[in-house]
Amino acid sequence: MEKQKSFLPTAPYKGTRDFYPDEMRFRNWMFSVMRETVQSFGYQEYDGPILESFELYKAKSGEEIVQRQLYDFIDKGERRVAIRPEMTPTLARMVAGNVRNLAKPIRWFSVPNLWRYEQPGKGRLREHWQLNVDLFGVKSYTAEVEIILIADAILQKFRAPKGSYQIKVSHRKLLDSFLSNTLELKSEKAQAVSKVLDKKSKVSQKEFEGEMSPLLSDPAKQLPLIYSYLDSDLKSISKMPGIDPNAIEFISKLFSDLNGLGIKEQLVFDPSIVRGFDYYTGCIFEVFDTNPENRRSLYGGGRYDNLIGLFSNEQLSGIGFGLGDVTFKNFLEGHGLIPDLNRNDTVFIPILEEGLFQEVIKLADELRISGIKTETMLEPSKIAKQIQTAEKKGCRFVVFLGSDELANRTVQLKDLNTGEQVSVSRLDLSSKLKESLKV
Ligand code: HAM
Repeated sequence: MEKQKSFLPTAPYKGTRDFYPDEMRFRNWMFSVMRETVQSFGYQEYDGPILESFELYKAKSGEEIVQRQLYDFIDKGERRVAIRPEMTPTLARMVAGNVRNLAKPIRWFSVPNLWRYEQPGKGRLREHWQLNVDLFGVKSYTAEVEIILIADAILQKFRAPKGSYQIKVSHRKLLDSFLSNTLELKSEKAQAVSKVLDKKSKVSQKEFEGEMSPLLSDPAKQLPLIYSYLDSDLKSISKMPGIDPNAIEFISKLFSDLNGLGIKEQLVFDPSIVRGFDYYTGCIFEVFDTNPENRRSLYGGGRYDNLIGLFSNEQLSGIGFGLGDVTFKNFLEGHGLIPDLNRNDTVFIPILEEGLFQEVIKLADELRISGIKTETMLEPSKIAKQIQTAEKKGCRFVVFLGSDELANRTVQLKDLNTGEQVSVSRLDLSSKLKESLKV
């Protein structure tokens, strides 16, 4: 019996995606809208390597990332390396490497692909793309004002309706002071408690208390304090004993300025925001879709004062956010914010006769020079089949060039949307197409 040939799977690696042209068009469109927005605030694009030394993450990214989610290995030169799970450490390394020469405030952005060994599910994959927007060299809350304005401007640029998202803000020092002063926890316990707090919205109350209670010395007294901390607003939190008054003042000023700049209904003080990374030292925030189907955060960010200090004696405070493509796509889909992205801006030219190949290429070139995207067939075939190909490829206009048209310097222009076909002089073709295509 003939041996069955075994084929390789065509599916991509677990938790990753292939971007076929339709998906790629979407991704390019989404990030081009974001690029345009952040560039309008003066931010410049940077990039770095996908591989970094393992040490870079070990220092400050936090236990969850380093122990559970990092793709790390030993390279052929015996170096321990890791595929970037986030961009902030690379950014800090790059800024630190040239810190004296860079004009402050440094305003940079990037769109890296990042790798985390996660359990893939809704809103969570092993590879995602993430817009990173960061600002260095401003200690005042005015940096937070700008970063949150940009976070909001991106959503506005996509025409996100009022009420479709919330920007939830807190401050690491609120949490730190609550854990160490109000709950009187030692630093190791405080860290463990904050990890459980970070998971609170993803587990039931019973599970939450089940994980929390063993970490507390007096759960009967401390659990109610935890609930009242989590439920508090800016006014009530300021009355809790032990809470850092500077952090409250910081958030109050930030909210007052942002409100004055029109960021009001969408801005919420939420002390349950924890953020998983160890490097945050100040204001922290997350943006959420209000659609309950899309529960994971759209953005996460905050201020980090000491990352540059890992590389030199220089001190430079940074603040920024990451915005992932997975949950953001769910957001755009859920609120009907994706425009028609089909490729009807590309013109298609069939080959009607073998001898006309060169003439078809010349015509295509004329159109390309005038700024019209043009695709041609490369071999003749039945005309109906060529029109079908144009349709399948999503082209709206088909231009026919036969020997008669060639002789009298015309073409036949067919609009596949309407079925209409007209004879057009070769001289007028590009302006007519540009008008119809609005290019
Ligand atoms: P992060 O909260 O880990 O922050 O990620 C930011 C955003 O990236 C999330 O809100 C989510 O949209 C997306 N994201 C993260 N992990 C995944 C995943 N496995 N699958 C799909 N999407 C994901 C950071 O990475 C910080 N370094 C951001 C930052 C920049 N902080 C200051 N500057």
